[in-house]
Amino acid sequence: MWASFCLIAISSAAGALCASVPHKLTLVTPQVVHTFPNGTNMENLAVRASGQILCTIITAPDLYQVNPSVNSSATLVYSFSGYETVFGIAEVQPDQFYVLAGNASAATLTSVEGSWSAFHVDMTSFESSGVATIDKVADFPDALFLNGMGLLNLEEGLVYVADPYAGAISILNVNTGAHYVAINNSLTVPAAPFTTPLGVNGVHVFQEPDGPLYVYFSNTAQSLLARMPIDATGTPIGDAEVVASGIMADDFTFDSDGNVLQAVIGSDEIVKIDPSTGTVTVIAGSPNNTELRSVSAAQFGRLSNETTTLFVTLNGGNLGAGGPVVPGAVKMLDLGEALA
Ligand SMILES: *[C@@H]1O[C@H](CO)[C@@H](O)[C@H](O)[C@H]1NC(C)=O
Ligand SMILES: *[C@@H]1O[C@H](CO)[C@@H](O)[C@H](O)[C@H]1NC(C)=O
Ligand SMILES: *[C@@H]1O[C@H](CO)[C@@H](O)[C@H](O)[C@H]1NC(C)=O
Ligand SMILES: *[C@@H]1O[C@H](CO)[C@@H](O)[C@H](O)[C@H]1NC(C)=O
Ligand SMILES: *[C@@H]1O[C@H](CO)[C@@H](O)[C@H](O)[C@H]1NC(C)=O
Ligand SMILES: *[C@@H]1O[C@H](CO)[C@@H](O)[C@H](O)[C@H]1NC(C)=O
Repeated sequence: MWASFCLIAISSAAGALCASVPHKLTLVTPQVVHTFPNGTNMENLAVRASGQILCTIITAPDLYQVNPSVNSSATLVYSFSGYETVFGIAEVQPDQFYVLAGNASAATLTSVEGSWSAFHVDMTSFESSGVATIDKVADFPDALFLNGMGLLNLEEGLVYVADPYAGAISILNVNTGAHYVAINNSLTVPAAPFTTPLGVNGVHVFQEPDGPLYVYFSNTAQSLLARMPIDATGTPIGDAEVVASGIMADDFTFDSDGNVLQAVIGSDEIVKIDPSTGTVTVIAGSPNNTELRSVSAAQFGRLSNETTTLFVTLNGGNLGAGGPVVPGAVKMLDLGEALA
């Protein structure tokens, strides 16, 4: 279908649009892993080496675990009392996760300045004892809102943390709690085409074999995915460049070939982005149905039978943002040949 659209559009201004958002003929059908109660907005997820999925809730300060199978139940791992919401999550050392908790409302898109903290979640004894070991790593008194988190340097315990309202990316040392604003430029700030105050949202590091080390980040208001070359400390060593635009992007991950699997919260789609060409291909979801309503994050499975299985969180949409509202959920997509 998109091929004929390309042919008729090739000499017009729509040519650029066509080239940037081709649709696959056959979309991957999402399967439900777990659906939370209606009124739940979800945010993010991380997959443990055991295959189990840790996922964060916006409408409660809760971290849950679900099994990577259809119609799984959900187990509460921890509720961060004193906070309203949990956003980004990243693993540093094996089964050592870090999450961002704070006070914010999905319905009104407001966040309380200075309410954000990073916590360490040690999952190593969760199965034997039923409890995760939790300790606070750092407060962020100057942060407006903390959203995405991505591993930067395992040996040094460094992660990137995105503040979409401030429009900047910080580096946090999870071992010492020290943090500072490391990236703050015209592609991280909230700006046109959309008026949402959400600038930089997802942030992840990727390096092709023998290629440069890059930090990739999405910007929701600017509807783009960008990247910057960095050194091992996370300091940029070159200019930021736009990888793809025209996608109201939330969080994302990479396949083994270095393609980006991007959750497009604005159009309820998962797209595949080839960073070498900027080509964007829709592989699942549609703005015309709620299969992937307000899809917010994506991570591949880690078991040997899940190398092409993408797990995603559905924010679910909310009344403040308009559009249909469905319960927050974890779904899975068997990408199979969609990755080829
Ligand atoms: C992969 O296999 C494990 C059992 O080893 C199973 O629990 C899991 O649900 C499977 N994953 C998928 C996506 O089918
Ligand atoms: C999952 O639940 C749905 C709805 O209850 C049901 O139709 C479907 O058969 C279930 N699938 C599996 C694999 O259990
Ligand atoms: C978050 O808001 C609650 C009230 O809903 C308040 O009791 C709590 O102190 C706030 N937490 C932070 C970290 O600001
Ligand atoms: C980002 O840089 C601008 C100046 O270009 C400054 O006004 C703003 O405070 C900086 N933001 C952060 C979070 O450091
Ligand atoms: C959504 O529906 C509209 C109207 O039927 C159609 O023009 C559009 O192509 C559809 N979009 C997708 C992504 O399927
Ligand atoms: C969920 O709740 C919202 C808000 O009350 C409502 O509009 C929507 O129809 C509900 N959806 C389902 C699937 O129950």
